[in-house]
Amino acid sequence: MQRVLVVDDAEVNRELLREILGAEYTIEMAENGEQAIQKLLKYETEIAALLLDLQMPKMNGFEVLEEMQDREWIKKIPILIISSESAVETENKCFEMGVSDFIRKPFEGSIVKNRIKNAVELFACKNQLEQTVEKQTVALEEQNLIIQRQAEKLKEAKPFNHLMMQYHSAIMEVETKLKVLNEEFSQEYNRNPFESIKSRLKSPESIYEKLERKGFPVSVESIRENLTDVAGVRVICSFPDDIYRLARLFLKQDDINLLREKDYIKYPKTNGYRSLHLIIEIPIFLSNEKMFMKVEVQFRTIAMDFWASLEHKLKYKKNVKNADEIVRQLKNCADSIEVLDYQMQEIRNKIDHSKE
Ligand code: GTP
Ligand code: MG
Repeated sequence: MQRVLVVDDAEVNRELLREILGAEYTIEMAENGEQAIQKLLKYETEIAALLLDLQMPKMNGFEVLEEMQDREWIKKIPILIISSESAVETENKCFEMGVSDFIRKPFEGSIVKNRIKNAVELFACKNQLEQTVEKQTVALEEQNLIIQRQAEKLKEAKPFNHLMMQYHSAIMEVETKLKVLNEEFSQEYNRNPFESIKSRLKSPESIYEKLERKGFPVSVESIRENLTDVAGVRVICSFPDDIYRLARLFLKQDDINLLREKDYIKYPKTNGYRSLHLIIEIPIFLSNEKMFMKVEVQFRTIAMDFWASLEHKLKYKKNVKNADEIVRQLKNCADSIEVLDYQMQEIRNKIDHSKE
């Protein structure tokens, strides 16, 4: 049976509560605040709920609450005030100090029973949740430490750095191909199919984390085999049709192998994410070998890119209020951006066609 501590200076009240609750709980009694603290010290977290009177000799209910705050017990034990005080300020003060409930005397036995039951159950849920979160936080911190340590090891390993050099070379190859297309295009049509290119090498931490998460071995061969996004190139275009035109011209080149295409422009993600992803293989030429390297090339419009960076930032913010509402608004923005992109494209087409 769970233990409930009843603190009241009037014996008749204590006995009444024992009668109401005795069948379901083991009842501990205290006649004043001092005794209450003694009992709390003795049983600590074994107490499932504390029923506390306010007006008492020696140490009153508020003093008990203060003491409990100092000892950080308030968060551990649900407290129900049972008092004949009718002032709203008193009640509010109790809630501000962290009590779970306020029951006014005279009370109805069955109501007290139910309110205690609720408070105990709620606290148990809350404590369990807090423990789970705490465990997860500890596990996460440990995991982060491992990731950092392993990443350090990777950074020191020569084969890993050699691999990174190869990915970097692949990025340069891709960039050059795209820039050449841009040159040709701007000569021929007097405009650039893309606005800018952003490239990045995946960090050793992310590489290690992803291999672990997906259950792949941590080795240079495994990275080469299993990861497709170590080398990333992002191409920011002005108009949606430039994306497809540029991607087509790029893929037409006979030294590029398309491994996978994900068209999130035709088939946006449910959150509203739009981009064209190509996983390709491109050769790099080293002093004594030719190697094929995987590169993830993402094509987006300026507006899609603006949306994606904002959404990415928000996704990694913790404890964001109204997260559901933000998700909905982001989706709305993504839809508006799509409309805008195609409207701008139409305007451009009209201007192009009206030229002499
Ligand atoms: P990752 O393991 O996250 O790389 O996913 P994936 O390998 O299944 O491929 P996917 O094509 O879904 O995503 C590849 C990359 O596209 C991600 O690493 C992000 O850079 C970007 N991306 C994909 N989905 C989203 C999204 O919903 N929001 C944002 N901001 N970026 C996204
Ligand atoms: Mg990826």
